[in-house]
Amino acid sequence: MRTVTVASELGAPRGTRAVVMTMGALHEGHLTLVRHARSIADEVLVTVFVNPLQFDDPADLERYPRTLGADAALLEAEGVDVLYAPALDDVYPGGVPIVTVAAGAINEVFEGAARPGHFDGVLTVVLKLMNLTRPDVAVFGAKDAQQVIAVRTMVRDLNVPVEIAVAPTVRDDDGLARSSRNVFLSASERDDALVLARALRAADAAAGSGAAVAEVIRAGEQVLADTPAVVVEYFAALDPASAQPVADDYRGDAVIAVAARVGKTRLIDNVATHLGQGSSA
Ligand code: PAJ
Repeated sequence: MRTVTVASELGAPRGTRAVVMTMGALHEGHLTLVRHARSIADEVLVTVFVNPLQFDDPADLERYPRTLGADAALLEAEGVDVLYAPALDDVYPGGVPIVTVAAGAINEVFEGAARPGHFDGVLTVVLKLMNLTRPDVAVFGAKDAQQVIAVRTMVRDLNVPVEIAVAPTVRDDDGLARSSRNVFLSASERDDALVLARALRAADAAAGSGAAVAEVIRAGEQVLADTPAVVVEYFAALDPASAQPVADDYRGDAVIAVAARVGKTRLIDNVATHLGQGSSA
């Protein structure tokens, strides 16, 4: 594996190039994206860059885990070809960019509403990293469902010549979705956090038995109510094309998404489902 800290040394791709963009503190979730990338391209390039532009909370940026040595060892073991781990000024040589990407209506809902400027920051760095690394395909995780929608929308609306691939959410055996932020959870908080996946499963089961949107959401919320230590920000069904909340009579593919605080740690999770499978009312 070649480790590169300046984009000018990235070199031309050897065959088709897949890129996996990360903020480091790598875990099985990230490694699944790497394996997917390995299976679809000749060359795999991973970026590790904690992007200040997408953090609305300076304290969150400050405490974000940084483990580059361990990350490099994991990527090497996965047979990654190139690791691009730039310093701040290689990505933002002029400081905060003047021209940025705007996520539009995606900013107004769920993660966008909870974290002002977050998706503008994500899309700006994703487009910059695409331009710097010139991949054929970029792989993202379903764990961040609204991020996938934002990236797909940008690629479509700005004619970005990169294919988007998505890999499923990786969970621990007990159901907790892997996240770089899980290291902040105490043992009891981690236990409490399991309610998120349980609530999503309950909502998905309700959807599977043909329940309408309100009932599906209620099924999840009932499970969440068992664990008052988990402070829910939203538990909702969203349209997988637009990220907007679905109407009460919506039928079709949907994402049930949740965000909650467990102690000081904010966690998100989601499940893809289908609404309105039952007999029509
Ligand atoms: P980060 O949170 O490091 O995640 C990098 C990629 O790994 C994202 O595509 C994310 O969806 C995926 N991922 C994280 N946990 C996962 C899990 N449990 N299962 C499957 N995939 C998982 O997302 C970002 O970084 C940044 O916003 C980034 C796109 C790099 C732009 O800065």
